Amino acid sequence: MSTQSIEIVRTISPVASPRPSYLMCSPRFFDVNYVINPWMADNVHAASPERAAAQWQHLHNALSEIADVTLIDPQPGLPDMVFTANAGLERNGIVIVSSFFHSERQGEELHFARWFEECGYTVIRLPQSTSFEGEGDALFSLNGGPLWAGYGRRSTKESHLQLAHVWNVEVVSLHLIDPRFYHLDTCFAPLNDGYVMYYPAAFDAASVSSIEAFYPVHKRIVVSEADAVRFACNAINVDRSILVNEISRELTERLKEANFTVIPLQLSEFLKAGGAAKCLVMRLSPLLKQTTN
Ligand code: ARG
Repeated sequence: MSTQSIEIVRTISPVASPRPSYLMCSPRFFDVNYVINPWMADNVHAASPERAAAQWQHLHNALSEIADVTLIDPQPGLPDMVFTANAGLERNGIVIVSSFFHSERQGEELHFARWFEECGYTVIRLPQSTSFEGEGDALFSLNGGPLWAGYGRRSTKESHLQLAHVWNVEVVSLHLIDPRFYHLDTCFAPLNDGYVMYYPAAFDAASVSSIEAFYPVHKRIVVSEADAVRFACNAINVDRSILVNEISRELTERLKEANFTVIPLQLSEFLKAGGAAKCLVMRLSPLLKQTTN
């Protein structure tokens, strides 16, 4: 496909910072208003705003201990905007803003694009025909290696060509086959120190082979279905800390063996919308908070 649709809006140079940065959005307007994934089906208007606010604040506090957290203003009528992992994908000051598959979320695009522009990122928009749902479907390996990208539910495989082109990286496309695990970050988490945590049944056989060709067996943390449906793979990993919805004792032990510290969170209200810890944050390069003009 052509890259002529790429529009570069503004450029700024990254600067070094000792702590990783993340973008979050308050759940002020969060609700389950429509059904665009199986988790939402029985949960329309079933999330408690008070509990959601408290759970989100707890995640914000825990993450702020180990990382810098920046906020974007929530918008009325966009109840899923709280899931900033779907704002886009950023690396080296360049953001590809999401081009949502479902019309219900397309209103978020403008707000995220504007925020990134105001913060001085180079903003790239993709055509609506090649949907791409940001960090929900594209995860950089944490210690070198490819950009892992999901397709089959929300993001198109065609959008992966754009990712490879923009960052000049190898992209490995992974086919998502279980509707419950509709974004890559619901079933796959590259971790520090060359580890990966994943739920194999969410992928087709060729995709499992791609994952296993890259990660040696002792670096694979295979998640059971029981943990996968608790969004165990939807984990935020900062150094050796892993922030994640409550998971089994077995998986917590396995992560401990690999020298990770699990920080368990209660994210029940967000699970009703089909998201958990990792969906609620987007990783950002540390940037100068000023525009170039
Ligand atoms: N209700 C949202 C949706 O279906 C949840 C998004 C979860 N985000 C994620 N990165 N997995 O789009």
